[in-house]
Amino acid sequence: MRALVAGATGQTGRRIVEELLAKGITVRAMVRDRTKALSELPEGIDIVEGDVLQPITLRAALTDCQVLLSATGAAPSLDPTGPYKVDYEGNKNLVDAAKAAQVNQFVMVSSMCVSKLFHPLNLFWGILYWKKQAEDYLKQSGIPYTIVRPGGLKNEDNTQAIVMSSADQLFEGSIPRRKVAQVCAEAVTQPSAKNKVVEIITSEGATSQPIEALFASVG
Ligand SMILES: NC(=O)c1ccc[n+]([C@@H]2O[C@H](COP(=O)([O-])OP(=O)(O)OC[C@H]3O[C@@H](n4cnc5c(N)ncnc54)[C@H](OP(=O)(O)O)[C@@H]3O)[C@@H](O)[C@H]2O)c1
Repeated sequence: MRALVAGATGQTGRRIVEELLAKGITVRAMVRDRTKALSELPEGIDIVEGDVLQPITLRAALTDCQVLLSATGAAPSLDPTGPYKVDYEGNKNLVDAAKAAQVNQFVMVSSMCVSKLFHPLNLFWGILYWKKQAEDYLKQSGIPYTIVRPGGLKNEDNTQAIVMSSADQLFEGSIPRRKVAQVCAEAVTQPSAKNKVVEIITSEGATSQPIEALFASVG
C-alpha cells in the first residue's frame, strides 16, 4: 500500500507521515515547498510537489497511491477566503482527484464542532462551516472514508487515553497531534474505520484502549 499525505509539512501531517512509516506503509509526502520538506521530513522519503488549489498537481501526486490522508488547513490570515479555498475547495479537489485515481480510502483530518454554526472558531472566516462542507462532499463521493475530528491540537504528547466518539458528541477537549496521527495511520489498516466520522480527544480519567477497539466501538 502506498499512502499520499497531503499537508505533509504541517504539524499534524508530518506526524502522520512518521506514524505511517512506523507501520511499514510506503508514504509519499505531498508538499508545497520541497526545501521545507527536505529539512523537516524523514530522510529519503518520496516527496511530490502539489497544491490542493491546483487540481492537475493532485492527479500526478496520486499516481500509484491506494490511500490518501489530508491534514491540510488554512493558516490564520486576514484573507477571508482562506478557509473557503483550502479547507473546502482544496479538500474538494482532493476528493475529485482521489475518485479519479480510484483510491481505496480517504482519511480527512477535520475538526470537532464542525456542525456548530455559531461556534467562535467560525469567526475565522467560517472555518468550521467550510470543513463540514468538505466532509459532506467526501461522504457523498462514494470513496470509502474516515473523517477524524480532533479537539484542540497540542504539540506535546501526553500519556492520557484517547476518547473516541461518533459525530457531534464531543464539544470540548484537546488531543496531542501525535495521537491524531496515530489514529489516522491506524485508520488505513482497520476495516472498522471505514465510512466513519470519529471525534477524538484525550482524557485523564478514560481507560486506555487500542485504537482498533476504539474504531470498532464507534457506530
Ligand atoms: N489547531 C487546532 O487546534 C485544530 C483543532 C482541530 C482541527 N484542526 C485541523 O487539523 C488540521 C491539521 O492542523 P495543523 O495545525 O497540524 O495544521 P498546520 O500545521 O497548519 O498544517 C496545515 C498544512 O496544510 C498545508 N496547506 C495549506 N494550504 C495548502 C495548499 N493550498 N495546498 C497544499 N497544502 C496546503 C500547509 O502547507 P505548508 O506546510 O506548505 O504551509 C500545511 O502543511 C487542519 O485541518 C486544522 O484546521 C486544528
